[in-house]
Amino acid sequence: MNRTVKIAAVLGVAVWMSAVTGQAQQASAQAQAATLTIDAGKAGAKVSPTLYGLMTEEINYSYEGGLYGELVQDRTFLNIRDPSNWIPVPQGTARGTVARDATTGPSTALPASLKITVEQADAKNAYGLRNGGWWGVPVRGNTTYVASVWAKGDAAAVGGAAVRVSLIADDSGKVLASAKLPALTTEWGQYFFTMKTGAIAKVTAANQILLSVERPGTVWVQQLSVFPPTYKGRANGNRVDLMELLAGMHPAFLRFPGGNYLEGQTIADRFNWKKTIGPLVDRPGHASPWKYHSTDGMGLLEFLEWCEDLKMQPVLAVYAGYSLGGEHVAPGPDLEPYVQDALDEIEYVTGDATTKWGAERAKMHPAAFPLTYVEIGNEDFFDKSQSYDGRFTQFYRAIKAKYPALQLISSSNARGNVVKSVTPDLIDDHYYKRAEEFFKDVHHYDAADRTGPKIFVGEWATREGMPTTNFGAALGDAAWMTGMERNSDLIAIASYAPLLVNVDPNGMQWQSNLIGYDALRSYGSPSYYAQAMFAGHIGTEIVAAALEGAGDRLFYSVTKDSAKGIVYLKLVNASSAAQELRISLDGAKTVKATAKLVRLSAGSTAATNTINDPKRVVPVESTVTGVAKTFTRTVPGYSIEVYEIGVQ
Ligand code: AHR
Repeated sequence: MNRTVKIAAVLGVAVWMSAVTGQAQQASAQAQAATLTIDAGKAGAKVSPTLYGLMTEEINYSYEGGLYGELVQDRTFLNIRDPSNWIPVPQGTARGTVARDATTGPSTALPASLKITVEQADAKNAYGLRNGGWWGVPVRGNTTYVASVWAKGDAAAVGGAAVRVSLIADDSGKVLASAKLPALTTEWGQYFFTMKTGAIAKVTAANQILLSVERPGTVWVQQLSVFPPTYKGRANGNRVDLMELLAGMHPAFLRFPGGNYLEGQTIADRFNWKKTIGPLVDRPGHASPWKYHSTDGMGLLEFLEWCEDLKMQPVLAVYAGYSLGGEHVAPGPDLEPYVQDALDEIEYVTGDATTKWGAERAKMHPAAFPLTYVEIGNEDFFDKSQSYDGRFTQFYRAIKAKYPALQLISSSNARGNVVKSVTPDLIDDHYYKRAEEFFKDVHHYDAADRTGPKIFVGEWATREGMPTTNFGAALGDAAWMTGMERNSDLIAIASYAPLLVNVDPNGMQWQSNLIGYDALRSYGSPSYYAQAMFAGHIGTEIVAAALEGAGDRLFYSVTKDSAKGIVYLKLVNASSAAQELRISLDGAKTVKATAKLVRLSAGSTAATNTINDPKRVVPVESTVTGVAKTFTRTVPGYSIEVYEIGVQ
């Protein structure tokens, strides 16, 4: 009987022991040697410097309960008595009632409020309501929380200071930080305050925000907001850990605000940018098509500031008259107001203070923002009325007339919604696939027409693993990226989607995402690291190369940066077997003997990172020796590698 027993695995090369003879033998797990011939001496087409960017929308609690720093869930009191927010918690002898009052609010945008009627209360027996945050409230030691609330009181309530806001530990009930508002008036007013914590032994998210009233009377409140320190200290800003993860992807642009979120389920629920700017109290918020409410605290200006903070250019998607539920606006006079909205939006982004909308922006942000790309709609191939050609053309003509330098992107190239009347500058192609499908499709753009519109791969992802993708997905992604890079003379911009997911059981609407987080912690998926590796080693010119003798699971891309004298070689081995590879740098005068290698690898395609085990699959950097004009490497099974080779 000639059975074999696996006894070890080193660098993906399995070593087996014959049970009969006891002799070690190398199994055929290592594929036949292959050759990669790189034309290192020749400069090819330019790599698009904006190839890698971010795509984002309000999905999976990406902003509310995610990137947007607000700690209070439902700060506008839409869902009082929802199990996760605004539960009455009268202390001791306190007595009172709460209700949503639709007859009074601080603004036209927020015409309702929370009415708290307190029959009996004092400082030790307060009538309170607890808010559980976004499935937890992270509270850190020696930290200042910046807060505000709109409030007013009746004659009884305004007789003295009545309202307090506190951060409370769930288990112990300990007050971690607290602030008492001054006496209210009978008119709506906004109160700003801070809460500072002392030392905290263990940082957790098992805390709550307590809004309490400490004297009898009626109090109305609206828009209670509590922010932790934010990225770059921006007021109304973003979560620090998530911004740092995004910065690690070296993104060149941000596509916003969607995605389906741009369109809305109905026209009324589209991303109506004019309702997302100015003071928060003037933003009514709206329903996201992903089935939850957005306060629009992350509004147009906040998207632009996010771009500014990460040095990304905006890829601005404007609403184009089609919504997810199927409603559309016919091209012609009916569409004109929407076209005007888009022109106004572009003016808000780029105009100086002498323009109407530029002046509006300048009140909050004096400098204009750069803008090159504007996308007209999102996935308009779903429009059964087939009106996209007409709609796109109307937007195109109006925008080009006023802003001829802008590059306009068509969101559709299919199903009777192909734009024929004018020529879009770019076409947005979307790919959601399994890894196997991406492996087969890596040559998708190799022979594509170079004379027509450029390509924006505006959404793409290997959909394997949830809530964030696994290493098998990272292999699919990396293989696909080699194809995009080799064709980056045609593909000007590309962005993975979706980017963010709150991994709480309440948080996810889409099953395969790049970055996961809960109220306290965050992590990148293996796909995240694959992207960070590619975007961090992009190069400036495409280098021709030819692969021979490898199976159909080895993928490559070669670029170089002549000014820096660096060749970037990316190799993806999606097979479990190691691959010996002879690499020839033809045309190179000299090759540095040591090279930097960054490798992401795992023992199985199911390997992944999670909120509790965030660093199982991460890139490892090393120095490789023996690099020469011709050298041989073993590419481990299930690995993604980026080499930085010094070449003159
Ligand atoms: O990325 C998730 C969704 O997929 C986007 O909102 C939409 O554009 C696409 O169908």
